Amino acid sequence: MNNLNRLFQFASNMVVQGPLYAIANARIHSPIPLDAAENWKFWNEQKSSWVESLVRAYPPSSRRKTYLDSMLAQDHANGIEAHYDISNEFYALFLDTKYRFYTCAEFLSDTETLEAAQENKAKYLLSLLNLSGSEKILDLGCGWGAMLRYLQDAGHWGELTGFTLSKEQLTYAREKLGLNVSLTNFITAPFENAPYDRILSIGALEHVRPKELQQLYQKIYDALAPQGLAVHQFFSFEREPYPASAILLQLFFPGSLLVIHRHHIEAAESVGFRITHDSIHDYKPTIRAWYKRLVENQARALELVGLEIYNRYMTFFPVAWLFFAQKEAELHRIVMKKSSH
Ligand SMILES: C[S@@+](CC[C@H](N)C(=O)[O-])C[C@H]1O[C@@H](n2cnc3c(N)ncnc32)[C@H](O)[C@@H]1O
Repeated sequence: MNNLNRLFQFASNMVVQGPLYAIANARIHSPIPLDAAENWKFWNEQKSSWVESLVRAYPPSSRRKTYLDSMLAQDHANGIEAHYDISNEFYALFLDTKYRFYTCAEFLSDTETLEAAQENKAKYLLSLLNLSGSEKILDLGCGWGAMLRYLQDAGHWGELTGFTLSKEQLTYAREKLGLNVSLTNFITAPFENAPYDRILSIGALEHVRPKELQQLYQKIYDALAPQGLAVHQFFSFEREPYPASAILLQLFFPGSLLVIHRHHIEAAESVGFRITHDSIHDYKPTIRAWYKRLVENQARALELVGLEIYNRYMTFFPVAWLFFAQKEAELHRIVMKKSSH
């Protein structure tokens, strides 16, 4: 993209999507790789209060809603493919080497490796799943099969199934790991082979749009055996339904819109679930670790995905860090229990 086109794009983004989006998009289309230190500082240094207010207030909320509604009208699957079907090798440059979790880890100290922190998270979720070993488990949005593999390593022998929308992930999970994973849209497709004893999701409910939530919880409830558990890890908005950051996030997950946390709980309870656990965890150290690894692997990343995608992820991580630092969203781990009948 030449300078004139960049300028035109910036001006048009300013008017339609607002300054946060326009600035991020201009940086993504930078003609050179973003400098690691400058880029992190750019997003995370303290801004004056008027700059903060301006970027948070424009476009006004009625215009944000109109824009987001138009984004949400597109097929959800396109946005998933745009984000995940890039290159398995690219993701491997910054994810933990053992399991390839692309979700919030659990750092117990500043010196811990990403690998150890991802295993801590998996262990935590394993404890929430409360397994004896024989349970039939469905993983919604299983990614590269990380949690299914962790369950196998932990000695689970019951049937394991995973759904993803990404063809790249499917190939890896099926062909490399031999897991029972299929390309199934958990929002639109029926859950075959129900009932399940446990339904799990890690970092997938973020892709469920507000209007799809109630129906999805109903489907999960119906697909569980009596006394079955649903265990979910996801982040959700804490306050406003249409903050300026929801528009910014369209650059990374087109067609997705986070749900307010309270609405998750209300939807789950309305179909009959009892919430038996809801804890909040810090996503920031994981994002920082991914950023550091991506920067360390800049040369290979550029070879694999080119400049624009490299700069897109270089922008995504500090923007996401800021999003959690400002507590626009929180990462939750939740257990939902089905009643006995
Ligand atoms: C952030 S990744 C998390 C992957 C994995 N759970 C992990 O912990 O690494 C989100 C996953 O959700 C999947 N996903 C999102 N929406 C989906 C849908 N409607 N149906 C099936 N999979 C979906 C994506 O394909 C991707 O595998």
